[in-house]
Amino acid sequence: MNKTFAALSVIFLAASTHVVGEVPPTSGATGVSKPHDVVFARRILMSGIARNMDEILGMIDTPGDFDLSEAREHAYEISTMLLSFPHLFPPGTDTWSKAFENEDAGRVSFAKSEVWLTFDDFYDRAQAASQTALDASLVKRTDQFRRLTLDLRQKCDSCHITYRRY
Ligand code: HEC
Repeated sequence: MNKTFAALSVIFLAASTHVVGEVPPTSGATGVSKPHDVVFARRILMSGIARNMDEILGMIDTPGDFDLSEAREHAYEISTMLLSFPHLFPPGTDTWSKAFENEDAGRVSFAKSEVWLTFDDFYDRAQAASQTALDASLVKRTDQFRRLTLDLRQKCDSCHITYRRY
């Protein structure tokens, strides 16, 4: 390698390091740069889960309307959504305060701080509920589906008691 080329390489390396150094430190870290958008996204995701659950419970309450293949589709949707849900709790998104709730109830988080204090438990609960919904999406018989739906509803409720404010 001649001297000029070596010197150029050093300049080039310095320049590329400089470019990397200019990437904003919060790039991709939306919990830091857009915490309210992250909270909004997980609340919308949960609303989607609840809509699917309401469809299932509605069908179960009126047995004449029960359609196992449709019910299984709803359970499958719930399972995929619950698998993603706990990934939407990065540090920086524990945003609740009474003042913020009064100001913007649509975007405040109703998650309790316990989510971040015992995150492994929170994560396990989301995965277990997702698995129950997946199991329901695969059953062959209506009575099996009903039993798993009751189990799933219990998992929704117990997680809310521990990790949701209201
Ligand atoms: C692993 C814990 C967990 C499980 C399981 C869970 N939830 Fe939630 N849910 C939460 C938390 C935490 C929030 C509050 C999120 C926030 O405001 O940041 C929430 C919020 C909600 C909301 C309010 C959404 C909104 O508009 O803000 C509804 C409705 C809901 N859950 C329904 C359900 C149903 C139905 C199930 C079961 C199929 C379920 N959840 C399972 C933890 C859970």
